[in-house]
Amino acid sequence: MTCPRIQLTDCGPQLSRVVAGAWRMDSWNWSPQQRLDWIRGCIELGVTSFDHADIYGGYTVEGLFGEALALEPALRQRIELVTKTGIALTTPARPAHWIKHYNTRAAHIEASVENSLRALRTDWIDLLLIHRPSPLMDPDEIAGAFERLRSAGKVRHFGVSNFTPSQFAMLNARTPLVTNQIELSPLHREPLHDGRLDQATTLRTPPMIWSALGGGRLFGDAPEAQRTRAALEAVANTRGVSLETVVYAWIMRHPSGPLPLTGSQRLPAIAAAVAATRLELDEQEWFSIWQAAAGHEAP
Ligand SMILES: NC(=O)c1ccc[n+]([C@@H]2O[C@H](COP(=O)([O-])OP(=O)(O)OC[C@H]3O[C@@H](n4cnc5c(N)ncnc54)[C@H](OP(=O)(O)O)[C@@H]3O)[C@@H](O)[C@H]2O)c1
Repeated sequence: MTCPRIQLTDCGPQLSRVVAGAWRMDSWNWSPQQRLDWIRGCIELGVTSFDHADIYGGYTVEGLFGEALALEPALRQRIELVTKTGIALTTPARPAHWIKHYNTRAAHIEASVENSLRALRTDWIDLLLIHRPSPLMDPDEIAGAFERLRSAGKVRHFGVSNFTPSQFAMLNARTPLVTNQIELSPLHREPLHDGRLDQATTLRTPPMIWSALGGGRLFGDAPEAQRTRAALEAVANTRGVSLETVVYAWIMRHPSGPLPLTGSQRLPAIAAAVAATRLELDEQEWFSIWQAAAGHEAP
């Protein structure tokens, strides 16, 4: 079984349907060889796309990944790198920042990409996202930065993350965006109803989905999590798959064509997401999970 691929818009990048998230990599405390083994393991599952941000691990994760990639540079041709810019953290690594803020000025975006290229030890980024919408963002300025990065061959495609539909439309009117990376899970259902997934379906910009398992909350003791697990388990038992596979199938059932990100360091957990690409839930299965999570039946 290998993970299928999906094209984001007619002229966007082709990514693996399941994308491996690297956010938590600094907490894994792995050697470069262990990180390389993880990257290789993902590729063997067909999960060739990796999600980063400049700020992950306090600006360290891209470097950890790049260090592992340097052990086998030829792997770069077999993977797609997604990264983000636009959040500015206060850490010793950025002494000039005296308050956490968003920065979508062209100079910040372009400098951030230079840092990401250096840290990831690559000549190009496949997809760059604006991490969070800033109230101060100027779409013309962002579009100008994107155009310079594109013509320099440094970034091939662009998108956003955590944008509302109107924010997405504003920037998309100036420069073509291929995705909005958003949170969605049985425990976080807002995008089903707030227009973000409707917009993704309308524009054929498949959304990338973060914290599909609620960042691990799904496995906690909260009543909502317990109810949801019971419903997931019922479907999992009928279908002969794992509970995690049912969660990813629940997400991918949406007609916008979501690409779930995994957050796990464990390859079997990533394989559980890949298995979901072959499982189509029917309406009643899907709503049984929605109802358990919401705590009431569909109105
Ligand atoms: N754009 C944004 O604003 C944004 C925000 C957050 C995240 N992201 C991206 O989304 C990716 C995924 O987010 P996430 O890490 O919150 O995803 P997630 O898959 O919902 O949560 C992963 C966490 O749950 C734990 N977990 C516990 N039980 C698990 C099980 N049975 N199966 C799998 N995992 C289990 C994992 O631990 P183990 O490692 O021990 O399995 C890991 O710590 C991130 O890496 C990042 O790339 C983007």
